[in-house]
This record gives sequence, structure tokens and C-alpha cells, in this order.
Amino acid sequence: MKLLLIGSGGREHALAWAFSKSPRLTKLYAAPGNAGIAKVAELSDLDVSNHDAVIDFCRSKEIDLVVVGPEAPLVVGLVDDLEAAGIKAFGPSKAAAQLEGSKAFTKGVCDEADIPTAGYGRFDNAEAALAYVREKGAPIVVKADGLAAGKGVVVAMTLQEAEDAVRACFEGSFGAAGAEVVVEEFLEGEEASFFVISDGTNALPLATAQDHKRAHDGDTGPNTGGMGAYSPAPVMTDELVSEVMNRVIEPTIATLAKRGTPFKGVLYAGLMITTEGPKLIEYNTRFGDPECQVLLMRLKSDILDIILASVEGQLATTSATWRDEVALSVVMAAKGYPGSYDKGTEIRGLDQLSSDALEVFHAGTKQDGNRLLANGGRVLNVTALGATVREAQQNAYKAVSRIDWPEGFCRSDIGWRAIERKPDQ
Ligand code: AMP
Ligand code: GLY
Repeated sequence: MKLLLIGSGGREHALAWAFSKSPRLTKLYAAPGNAGIAKVAELSDLDVSNHDAVIDFCRSKEIDLVVVGPEAPLVVGLVDDLEAAGIKAFGPSKAAAQLEGSKAFTKGVCDEADIPTAGYGRFDNAEAALAYVREKGAPIVVKADGLAAGKGVVVAMTLQEAEDAVRACFEGSFGAAGAEVVVEEFLEGEEASFFVISDGTNALPLATAQDHKRAHDGDTGPNTGGMGAYSPAPVMTDELVSEVMNRVIEPTIATLAKRGTPFKGVLYAGLMITTEGPKLIEYNTRFGDPECQVLLMRLKSDILDIILASVEGQLATTSATWRDEVALSVVMAAKGYPGSYDKGTEIRGLDQLSSDALEVFHAGTKQDGNRLLANGGRVLNVTALGATVREAQQNAYKAVSRIDWPEGFCRSDIGWRAIERKPDQ
């Protein structure tokens, strides 16, 4: 098969790496890709926001399947336009991607299907939102409704912070994404991510993972896209997985199907494991980044078999098998991330690092002759397997210590919650 992969991050490098192991693959293109993806794919500078250009590219290269990595092209309907042109594409339609594109939409699905989630109010003006915030008191969570690159959520510990967040949204801090605001009850517990792939009717559970969203050790510092991840997440017991399937995932898939907008693609549930059981914090409609990297290191099945089964409605007869080992990924970022940072600094020492139990996925890199340069905030994902979380952690950090990149930094405690939970693991 000839494939076109859309995206340029560590998630897409992990996908490209997994595709390149599949006997189904004959040729892989990536747009725009990065220096790591270029090792297994031909890069194209195609403008992916121009859907006609993507369609022309697919026709001229005889692409059999397009896989969309990030959320932005899904939310604007790239998959709908490809399908209308007769080109197979993996990922949800514009209507189904509203599960990520609008927090109020997801709350509506939760109401309709009685899915456990934080109590909330939704508002289209500051006055009403402020009144609600004052009535409920802090701590409380204020969210811009639309896509805000992970920046539209304020977990307010004081009333003042909550009021400021409401005002910032309606004053346009998040552009159109903040025209509507969801104010939510503050949930306490441990967070976990759970991934399934759906074909519109069936949901195939993938695996659990835990991300580390804060920039610095001990879960301090500003929120980021994710500084590291590991899979499986021990907080998600088999019992919790089946409860989440029954009470969260399956009702969501059934509700979207009933509405005539079936969900096909990866559904990523962000969960809070509270004393009252698991509650849905949010949905994403694509693989997490860096969660995808750890999931794919553990996946024994051919990812293309699973993706094709989703596209063709065949998931009921498809299964996924996983390595027993733990996978853990450490994100190396440019100093200053998630604030401002330099691009173009040189990275050395990657050549001898990859092995069966270790992959260094590129997240933001660019090749300049024989020099590898940093080209983004999150730059490398050093991803290792191990018999236990501790062993995977040691393997990943051993590799990190061999990478020569003075302008980069990483957290030194990825996996700490799992290790604290079971110190012998
Ligand atoms: P979201 O973009 O909705 O995932 O929110 C980003 C982060 O904010 C989550 O990963 C949580 O850490 C936190 N968060 C979101 N909603 C809540 C909530 N209702 N209670 C507590 N923390 C929350
Ligand atoms: N790691 C969080 C995300 O992909 O949204």
C-alpha cells in the first residue's frame, strides 16, 4: 500500500516507524514530516490546509490511504474532503471530531448518554459565567470551548483566578475558541489516558498510558503538550478499563452513531480516577503525543491491519496484542519550552542509540547536511522498553545521558507515580 501520513511530531515519527515494519507498506510519504520521519518516508512540503492540493497529491502518487496525525486537520474536515474525493482516510469526520473541537459538544454527549464527568455550566457571555463561578466558588475549572493548543484550560484554585480566566476568554485571549466557555467542577484524583480505535460501531481497546503535562520535576511548572509518558498506567486496573469501556467509551460511540455522525478513528479519553470512580475530563480524537510513542513500542500487532479495519468497518473481528513490557518515553525539549526557545541548535550522539528496546523518535528536528538541528519546542522522544517501569525509566535515561545537546532539557522523573505506587516495579 502507498500511504500519506500528515503531521510532523514525535507521534507521527512513531506511526511512520510502525508503518515501516508492516509488510503491507510499499511506499510512505509524509507531509510535512521531520528529520526522523525522513529515514522511513519521502517528505513532501504539501500545504495540508489546502485540501484540493492534498487530493491532487494523492491522485498523482496513487495513495491508497491517508493517515492524519494531529487534530487541526480533522476538525476542519480533511477526512470528509478526502472521502468525498474517493480517497480512503483514517480519522474522524469533521462532525465526529467535535468531540475534541468543542468541550461543550462533549458535555452534551455526556448528558445524553449519562457518561460520568464533572458537573458544568456553558456560557456565551462573561456576566453569566462570572455569576456561576461566584455561586460555585473555587477550586473550579474554566475552559475555552474550542481548540486552543492545550492552553485554554485554567484550573483555578482561587475565585480571583477563575474570574480572570473567564474575562480573558471573553476578551479574546483564545480567539474564536473562547467565544463560548465551559465552567467545570474541580475533580480530584489521578489522571490516566485510555485509547480505543473505533470503526463507527465497534470500539477496540488499545492500551492505557499516563502523560506528564507539567514542564518540571514533581509535576511543577507550566502546562506543556506532554513531557513524557509510559504505558501501561498501573492506576488503570482491568476492572477500571471495563468500567470505562461500558460507561464512557461505548455510550459515546453509540450516541454519535445514533446521531448519524459515527466516530471512526482513535478516541483518546482523558480520565480522572476519583473516589467515585472514573470520570471523563476530555476527549481527543487522535493519538496522544507522546502517548502514541509508548503505545506503539508495546504493540505487537500490525498497526496498519488495525487502522484498515477501522476505515473499512471491520473492527469486530480485529484484535490487538501487546508486549508485556512497560514502555516509557522521555521528552527532550529546547530550553525555555513551553515559553520562547531557540531553534537551530545542533544535536549530536543519536547515531548509535536505537536498538530493539530503544527508539529515539524525532518530534521537532530538521536535517541540515549531515547536522541534525532542533526545530521545535519538543524535539526528541527517547523511548525505551523494560520489564518494569523502573527498568524502562533507567533504559530511557541512560540513552538521554548519551545525547549531546546542551541547549535541551528534560524532566528527570518520568514514571514517578507508577514507581511510587509499586516501588518494586
Ligand atoms: P483538558 O485540556 O480538558 O484535558 O485539561 C487540561 C488539564 O487540566 C487536564 O489534563 C487536567 O490536569 C486539568 N483539568 C481539566 N479539567 C479538570 C477538572 N474538571 N478537574 C481537575 N482538573 C482538570
Ligand atoms: N499528550 C497530550 C496530548 O497529546 O494531547
